[in-house]
Parts: sequence; structure tokens; C-alpha cells
Amino acid sequence: AHQWRGVIREYADRLPVTEATKVITLGEGGTPLVHAQKLSELTGSEVYLKVEGMNPTGSFKDRGMTMAMTAAVEAGAKAVVCASTGNTSASAAAYATAAGLKCAVLVPEGKISMGKLSQAIAHGATLLQVDGNFDNCLDIARKLGESYPVFLVNSVNPARIQGQKTGAFEVVDSLGDAPDIHVLPVGNAGNISAYWKGYKEYAAPFETSNGTLPAVSTKTPTMWGFQAAGAAPFVAGHPITEPDTIATAIRIGNPASWDTAVAARDESGGLIEAVTDDEILDAHRWLSSKEGVFVEPGSAAGVAGLIKKHAAGQVPSGKTIVITVTGHGLKDPQWALRTEDGSDVQPVKVPNDVVTVAAELGLEEN
Ligand code: F0G
Repeated sequence: AHQWRGVIREYADRLPVTEATKVITLGEGGTPLVHAQKLSELTGSEVYLKVEGMNPTGSFKDRGMTMAMTAAVEAGAKAVVCASTGNTSASAAAYATAAGLKCAVLVPEGKISMGKLSQAIAHGATLLQVDGNFDNCLDIARKLGESYPVFLVNSVNPARIQGQKTGAFEVVDSLGDAPDIHVLPVGNAGNISAYWKGYKEYAAPFETSNGTLPAVSTKTPTMWGFQAAGAAPFVAGHPITEPDTIATAIRIGNPASWDTAVAARDESGGLIEAVTDDEILDAHRWLSSKEGVFVEPGSAAGVAGLIKKHAAGQVPSGKTIVITVTGHGLKDPQWALRTEDGSDVQPVKVPNDVVTVAAELGLEEN
């Protein structure tokens, strides 16, 4: 039986590696493409979820981190650094451990989920909570990378985008062609840039050192990105100085991959729009209660966008639509315990007694 070998080995001929490269991997990628039955019924299109929470550290960041950490080792780095809203730091910490490198992570104080914070600590990273937001953290991380002996593993490092483009390859490999529309959340804008790069590369002949690979897909999708309304610089058309949203993963006001994200949107004939925190939480609830897929709030922004566009009569039927759900629900589980009216779910307590339990469940003895 074939054992998945991680994205670098699976797609080596399309990534900047050679046979001599020492690959740092935790077996990332190969994530499920799940048919979303209720979203398909709603829209009349075939909707699929690319469930990136199934990666080793629970988010899509692992696809880029395997490449970034492999590049760090190749460059002879001893230490890596990143800024993060949580998932990048969790991934960097894990892959640095696998690589035997030191890792420092800068996170916005009080604005990252407990699950992500725990991961960075568990993997032995030095975690500093900065008195500022993600954009401030990234400024510092970039300056550290430029002027100090640390290797930057944020997505401004092109190795990250190279790794993340494999998400698009897997979608095409699963469906047999590119979808008509690809939907995803947008924060620092690395992922929308990476997917677009992957889709374009798969739709054309690709030059490698061993010759030219033929095109794999017949087309590229339209890219639909969604930001949180309080952190939507692409919708505003300029950076936001005080971004705010409950979806802390995408609480970003000055995306690093601005130009490539705009190119992905415009070249694909797509869009980048905003969804409110309430729409994000509704989509989060939809995914867990109707589809059986548990994601973190930021990951639900794409689904929120699709539902919103459908309500506006702007989702075509009879198409194939893929939504990347970017991170696992266990990263930030508190939102699952919150009901629509904002109160917290209280589990019912029962005595240690089968008759009372049966009565509580509404069961009658047969
Ligand atoms: N979804 C999740 C769960 C994320 O963690 C992020 C980004 C995004 C979506 C947006 O992706 O930045 O490529 O547009 N998280 C980064 C981090 C910023 O530090 O973990 P993007």
C-alpha cells in the first residue's frame, strides 16, 4: 500500500528541491477533500471542503513549513523566527523541532487561541507575546531576519508559498480537473497567492530539470477570498491600522502578500469580499452541525462567504466549488460551546442511574 510521504516528496518535481536535499517533514498534506452535502444542496453546485485541519499541527501552514524548514537547514541556519496569529507559530515550532533548530515566535498579546499557544510551548519554541498586533509582530520578525542570525519562516519567504501551492495540486489530483470556483479565507494573503500559483502551474506545461511535464488540468478556477469585516484591507483598498475580529487567525490589517493576492483575484476573474463575525460563527456552526467538519472560526470565513453570496443570488448552480477550511476546530474550541444567542452551552448533569439517563434521553424501555 502507498504511504503518503509529505508534500515535498509527493511533488518533488514541482518544488525547488534536488535529490541531495535533506527533507524536513512530518507527513503533511494528503488531506481529505470532503463532499459537503448540505452546502451542495443549498447551492445546487457540487461543493467540497479541503480539510486542512488534518495536517500534522492542525492547519494548512504545515505545507509551507516543510519547505521553509528544509530551506532553513539547506541554508545552514541554526535558528528560525516567525510572527504569527497562532497557526504559523505552532507549525514552525513543530517543524523546527523535527529539524533540530531553535525557534522563536512572536504573537500578538492576548489575541491567539490557547490551543495554538500550547502547541508552540509544547514543541519548545521561545514564545514572546508582543504588545501589538500581528502586523507589528511581522515587522519585528522581518527586521530580525534581515539584521540578526535567524532565518525568517513567514510566508514572505518564497519557500512557504512553494509548499502551500501543493494544496491546489491535491484538489486537481482528487477531482481530475480544477474546480470552477475556489473559496478560502484571506488574512496575510499567502494562501490565496499559493493556491493561484499551484492552479496556474498545473494548467500549463511545467519545466523541470528532467524535462517538461504536461499540463494536468484543463482550466484554472475563479478565486473567491473572504476576510473578516473588521480586518478587511483588500475590501477597503488600503491597510487597516486596528484590525479586529473574533477570528484571531485572520486578524491582520496589512497583508504581506498584497500584490500576489490582488493578482490572484484579478487574473482569475475573482473577488475578495468581507463577512461579519456573526456570519463567520454561523458558518462555523453550519460546518460542525450539518457537515460533520469541525474548524476554527477563521477557517469558516470561506464558507460564510459562499453562504452569503448564495443568499445574494450570486453562486452559480451546476458547478464544482472547493472551499479550503484552513484549521482544526480543536485549535480554538470555545466557540463550539457558544449558542446563537451568545450564552454558553451547559452540559446536563445526571445521576449514576440508567433509568434517569434513559428518561433524560427520551427513551422508553423495549
Ligand atoms: N485560516 C487560518 C486558520 C489561519 O491561521 C490563517 C493565517 C488564514 C486562514 C489566512 O491565511 O494568511 O495565508 O491569508 N494565519 C497566519 C498565522 C497569519 O500566523 O498563523 P493567509
